[in-house]
Amino acid sequence: MSYLVLKDLEKRYSKAGALIVNKMNLSIEKGEFIVFLGPSGCGKTTTIRMISGLEEVSGGDILIEGESILNKKPRDRGVSMIFQSYAVWPHMTVFENIAYPLKLQKVPKDEIKKRVYAAAEAADITALLDRYPAQMSGGQRQRVAVARAIVVKPKIFLMDEPLSNLDAKLRVSMRTELKNIHNNEKSTSIFVTHDQSEAMSLADRIVVMNKGIIEQIGTPMEVYHDSATKFVASFIGTPPTNFFDVKIELGDGQLNAVGDGFRYKVQEELREALRPYINKNVDMGVRPEFIGLSVDGNKGPGFLCEATIDFVEPQGTHSILITRVAGEEVKIMTTNHMEIKPNTVVNLHVKDGKAMFFDKETTKRIK
Ligand SMILES: Nc1ncnc2c1ncn2[C@@H]1O[C@H](COP(=O)(O)OP(=O)(O)O)[C@@H](O)[C@H]1O
Ligand SMILES: [Mg+2]
Repeated sequence: MSYLVLKDLEKRYSKAGALIVNKMNLSIEKGEFIVFLGPSGCGKTTTIRMISGLEEVSGGDILIEGESILNKKPRDRGVSMIFQSYAVWPHMTVFENIAYPLKLQKVPKDEIKKRVYAAAEAADITALLDRYPAQMSGGQRQRVAVARAIVVKPKIFLMDEPLSNLDAKLRVSMRTELKNIHNNEKSTSIFVTHDQSEAMSLADRIVVMNKGIIEQIGTPMEVYHDSATKFVASFIGTPPTNFFDVKIELGDGQLNAVGDGFRYKVQEELREALRPYINKNVDMGVRPEFIGLSVDGNKGPGFLCEATIDFVEPQGTHSILITRVAGEEVKIMTTNHMEIKPNTVVNLHVKDGKAMFFDKETTKRIK
């Protein structure tokens, strides 16, 4: 039995309104760190507000340890939530802020003290317990919000873009802290973000959401290397996946993906799966690091076409090369052609058979 289950969960904000969350199904195990990732407006906040009880559900069920929590009040659900705008009380010290939810629960004074110290230690703010929020930085205030959320020992710890108000450097270090706290507290966590690098670095599993539906549930490696849909392939990875509109054609007993300006021999292992698409158009996707290039006229395996490099963006460890195929921009990530100059003519190829193909109607990966 999974620890938290969302079953056909639905949300409309008005009777005739659009389905903001559309039959969402998800099972989360105890102790997992789950990240909801998706663009702004896809329904992430709505979903975790339904779990916390701040928002009513329009259909489906939410179960914790096998029991529906829909009839429970927010405070009886065993769920703690922290928000983007870390609402700490300005008129209370850090100690009082963290102690507040325990006071509401009428926990005895001695125990409050013990638990506040333990939570403060976990969030690394024991030195700040006597301060007021006005005397602290944004990062410190966010730690207070985290300590206040974990002090109640929630069954589920919900975090709604908790780092997005911090500057870039602090965001990255707080990320590591949060993961540390999670590992120490062994809490079950759902973390919401629209930032894919945050999602990749924190999650045990990522739930990729788009327009109220789940596109894919998988480990960071799975959603990256084995993207289930065109949306996932385009949303995850920087620079994003390059897409080409291609027609699958049979020629010389081979399957070819024929685009505007190129003819790519489909890799062996996909030939069966792509057979039903002969004479049909599909979307072909290749991640920037899987487009290789040669400057010696080599038209070997995976050959795509000739192209002229327009721009070079050095990144230190690698360079991003920008070119066009049939007028469409294509980005290439390279570590072995970092010295290449704009206007160089090169041959592009797909490395190691790493082209992905997507059904135009369902947008699902063909494999
Ligand atoms: N209280 C509300 N009333 C009506 N529509 C809402 C309300 N809250 C959110 N929405 C709409 O629901 C959709 C999803 O919003 P939200 O869950 O906040 O997305 P996300 O957190 O992924 O950015 C958006 O189109 C938003 O405008
Ligand atoms: Mg949101």
